[in-house]
Amino acid sequence: MKKILVTGGTGFIGSHVVVQLLNKNYQVFVLDNLSNSKKIVLEKIRKITGKLPNFIEGDIRNINLINQIFNENIFEGLMHFAALKSLSDSEINAEKYYDNNVVGSNNLLDIAVKKNIKKIIFSSSAAVYGNQKSAKVVETMLLDPITNYGKNKLLIEKKIQKFQTESKNISFVIFRYFNAVGAHPSGIIGEDIRETTSNLMPLVSKTAFGQIKKLTIFGNDYPTKDGTGLRDYIHVEDLAAAHIKGLEFFPKNKNISTFNLGVGKAYSVLDVVKTFELVSKRKIPYEFSKKRPGDLAECYADPFLANSDLQWKAKLNLEDICRDVWNFQIKNPIGYE
Ligand code: NAD
Ligand code: WQD
Repeated sequence: MKKILVTGGTGFIGSHVVVQLLNKNYQVFVLDNLSNSKKIVLEKIRKITGKLPNFIEGDIRNINLINQIFNENIFEGLMHFAALKSLSDSEINAEKYYDNNVVGSNNLLDIAVKKNIKKIIFSSSAAVYGNQKSAKVVETMLLDPITNYGKNKLLIEKKIQKFQTESKNISFVIFRYFNAVGAHPSGIIGEDIRETTSNLMPLVSKTAFGQIKKLTIFGNDYPTKDGTGLRDYIHVEDLAAAHIKGLEFFPKNKNISTFNLGVGKAYSVLDVVKTFELVSKRKIPYEFSKKRPGDLAECYADPFLANSDLQWKAKLNLEDICRDVWNFQIKNPIGYE
C-alpha cells in the first residue's frame, strides 16, 4: 500500500482529503499538533471510511520528529496542509505566524527533499494574489499579498522554487485555494468552528441556527451587482478530489505546477445569505456595517489550468455547499465536542 504523509490531516481540509485517500486505498499517516483540531476527527474518519489513519501528534517545526518519521517510513507523497490560517490574527501575531507557517514548512520540506520524497503537494492560498487589476486571477499574475498570512504562503512558494533550481528530481504541486467551505455529505466531518472565526460561511450557518443573532455584512457599497463583496466559494469535497488528481498527475508533472482551485464564479455575500436561507428554511437576520479593512470587492479563480492539466473541475455549487454546511451544523450544533 502506498504511504502518504498528511500534515494538518485532522484539520478542516486535511480531514476531507484523508477520507478520499483512504477510500482510494492509500495508507495515510497524519501529522498534526492539534493546535486547531481535535483527535476525535480520527474516529469520525473511521466512521466514514471504516479505516483509521495512523496518527502522529507533533509539530512540523520539530526537526527530530520529522527526521524520525521519514527514517521509519518510505512515503509515496507528502501533502502539507499544516498552518495557522487566520488572516486577521496574522496581522496581530506576525512572528507566531512566520514561525509556525514559514519556519515549520522550511523544516518539513528541507527534510522531505533530503529524503527524496518525489511527490509534494503544498496548500497555498488565493491570499498570495492581493489586490490585482482583474478580479479573475490567473496563476501567472505578479503576486502581491496584503496580509502576513499571504506573505507567509508566498515565501513558502518561493522556497519550493528554490528547491527546484537545486534539484531536478523532485516535483511539487502548489494549490492556491479560494474560499474553502462545505462539509462531508454525511455531516460527520466539516469545519469545526472556533469562537474567533471571522469567515462568512460559518457565521451565516451559526446565524441561521440561532447561535448568532445577526450577521454583520461588511460593506454594501462595493462596485458589485448588489454592493456586497464577491468571492469564489469552493466545496471542500471538490478541493479534496483535486488533491487525488494532484497525486495522480505526478508522472506528468514538470518540476513545479501551480494551480488555482476555485469554481471560477463569484458569489456575493447576499447570494450566500439567500441560498443558505433557501436550503435551511431559516431566516438569517443581517445588518450592514462598514467595509472590513483589506477586503477586496471581488476575487475569483481562473481554474482553466486545473481543469485542463489535472482534468479536475469543481462539481458542487453554492446550493450544495449550503446544504452540506447546514447538515453539518444540525448534526454538530456545538462542533466536535
Ligand atoms: P485548519 O486549521 O482546519 O487545519 C490546519 C491543521 O494544521 C490543524 O489541524 C492544525 O492543528 C494543524 N497545524 C497547524 N500548525 C501546525 C504545526 N506547526 N504542526 C503540526 N500541525 C499544525 O485549516 P484548513 O482550513 O484545513 O486549511 C488547511 C490548509 O489550507 C492551510 O495551509 C491553510 O492555510 C490553507 N488554506 C485554507 C483555506 C480555507 O479557506 N480554509 C484557503 C486557502 C488556503
Ligand atoms: C468572505 C466575504 C467579507 C465575514 C480569506 C482568504 C482566503 C481564505 C479564506 C485562507 C467577504 C464578507 C465576512 C462577515 C461579511 N483563507 N464577510 N461578514 O476574506 O474572502 O478570504 O479567508 O487562505 O484565501 O483570503 O473570506 O469568509 O472572511 O469573507 O460580510 O462576518 O464575506 O467581506 O466579502 P475572505 P471571508
